[in-house]
Amino acid sequence: PPAQSSDFWLFGYGSLIWKPPPHFDRRIPGWVTGYVRRFWQASEDHRGTPEAPGRVVTLIERSYWETLTDHHDSAPNRVWGVAYRILPDRVAEVKEYLDIREINGYSIHYTPFHPASELRPHPVVSLQATQPGAPIQALVYIGTPDNDQFVGPQDPQQLAEHIYLSEGPSGLNRDYLWGLEKALDGLSPESGDEHVTDLSNRVRAVAARFAEGRNDQPDK
Ligand code: BEZ
Repeated sequence: PPAQSSDFWLFGYGSLIWKPPPHFDRRIPGWVTGYVRRFWQASEDHRGTPEAPGRVVTLIERSYWETLTDHHDSAPNRVWGVAYRILPDRVAEVKEYLDIREINGYSIHYTPFHPASELRPHPVVSLQATQPGAPIQALVYIGTPDNDQFVGPQDPQQLAEHIYLSEGPSGLNRDYLWGLEKALDGLSPESGDEHVTDLSNRVRAVAARFAEGRNDQPDK
């Protein structure tokens, strides 16, 4: 059935893609526009520690991003992710859960979410997602440039080495990066994100250098 305006939808562009929130009844791949996904948010609580913060994704407003000097100087027009519909009688509970899970500098925003018209690998789900109709208003957590954890543009090789070395209570920072790469890959033939792919490749190369014992500690 088409989305109702009273429904509560949550858009995930990071770990929410492969780590769903509780109490959802629909999960729809799709995209938002007007943003650029970057590993520009420090993580002190999940993929790093306060002493050695890791790096996780946030969304940068595209108009602001265009004013910056970014080594990755292009970005797809669509930021792919997943929208979850939360069961109506569980919305308060889920919001509370997410505030605890996601807070670390992120704030709440709303943005139109566009359900994908073609999905893989679950053709049955795609029947739901191809319902014609307007984009769905969705809540999204964003670490904006004014939050303390916002890092801003970073050299991709240094960022890759930083991610390689970081770890927090939720696990290795590189597993978050590769988890995101894999999750994006599974959404649509068009859902790749070159920033994520490039960083993933760089971290694989750093890991290979270490495995071969060819490297001292990367600069850090
Ligand atoms: C996300 O997957 O969209 C997300 C997860 C944690 C914090 C912010 C966003």
